[in-house]
Amino acid sequence: MRSDEYKEKNGEFSVNSMTGYEPGLDIELDPDIEVLHRLFHHIQETWRALGEVSPMWSVLSVDEFKEEDKSSIDSFYATGENAALQVLATLRRNNIEPETLGTCLEFGCGLGRITRWLAENFPKVVACDISSSHLEQAKKNLEMIDNIDWVQLTNLDDLQRLQKVDLVYTVIVLQHNPPPLIDQAIRTLLQTLNPGGVAVFQVPTYRMGYRFDAEEYLSNLDERKNGDIEMHFLPQHRIFEIIGDEQCVTLEVLEDGRIGHRDHDLSNTFVVRKLD
Ligand SMILES: C[S@@+](CC[C@H](N)C(=O)[O-])C[C@H]1O[C@@H](n2cnc3c(N)ncnc32)[C@H](O)[C@@H]1O
Repeated sequence: MRSDEYKEKNGEFSVNSMTGYEPGLDIELDPDIEVLHRLFHHIQETWRALGEVSPMWSVLSVDEFKEEDKSSIDSFYATGENAALQVLATLRRNNIEPETLGTCLEFGCGLGRITRWLAENFPKVVACDISSSHLEQAKKNLEMIDNIDWVQLTNLDDLQRLQKVDLVYTVIVLQHNPPPLIDQAIRTLLQTLNPGGVAVFQVPTYRMGYRFDAEEYLSNLDERKNGDIEMHFLPQHRIFEIIGDEQCVTLEVLEDGRIGHRDHDLSNTFVVRKLD
C-alpha cells in the first residue's frame, strides 16, 4: 500500500479521472490449477517475508510505521477504526442493520488493524490471512480480544474450508494478488456467505496499460524480490460475472481511491448480497 492511501484515516480520497475512452485490459484469467498453486505460494512467501522484516509498514507504507514502539503500535491500530465505521455506515446505507449480522469474515486481516474494531461490532470475527508472520503478531498484539478466530490460509483450498458467515469484508488485500487469484478469492468468498449475507470488498479494476500473463509473470519472479509491493487489477465486467454466478446481487459500487491518484486508475468497493 502506498503512503497516499494512508489518507484513509481522514477520509481524504479524491476520485481519479477516467475518460471513458480507455481500452480493455489483456489479462489471463484461467491458467491451469498447477499455475494457480504456484501463484498462491509466491504471494504467501512474499507476505511472510514482509511480515518478518517490516510488519506495520507492509500494511501501511508510511515512515511512522517503520519503527515498532509502543506509540507507533497504538497509532497503527487506531487507523483501523475509520474502516470499521465505514463498514457500518455502508451496511446501514444499504438498509442492512449491522446488528442482524452474527459472524464477520475478514479476508487478509494482516496485523488485525481493522479486525480489532470489527470485533467490537460483531459477535464473532473470523480473521484469515495468507501470512504466518502477520498472523502471529496479530494474535500476540490482540490476545485480550476473545471473539476473534485467527485462521492461516496455508494453501489454495483452505478458503473453501472456512465456515459460512453473514458478512465478508476485505480491503487492500486482493490488489496484491495476480488476477487469477483475485478471481478465485472473490468467487470463494461469495460462496462462504449465508443466504442473505453481505460482502463488502475492495478491488482495483482498471489501470491503463496493465496486463497479465501467468507464465511470463512466474518466469520473472526474481525481479519482484526487490521489496516492491505488487499491484494487480481485475476488470469490473469479470467481477459482475462472478457476482451473478454466485447468486448474489450488487447493492453498491463506489470508487474508493484506495490505490492512490493516478489518471486512468480505478479501485472500487463492491457491496453485494447473497440471495435468500
Ligand atoms: C496491505 S495488508 C492489509 C491488511 C489489512 N486488510 C489492513 O487493512 O490492515 C495485506 C494483507 O493481505 C494479506 N494477503 C495478501 N494476499 C492474500 C491472500 N490471497 N489471502 C489471504 N491474505 C492475503 C497479506 O498477508 C497482508 O497481511
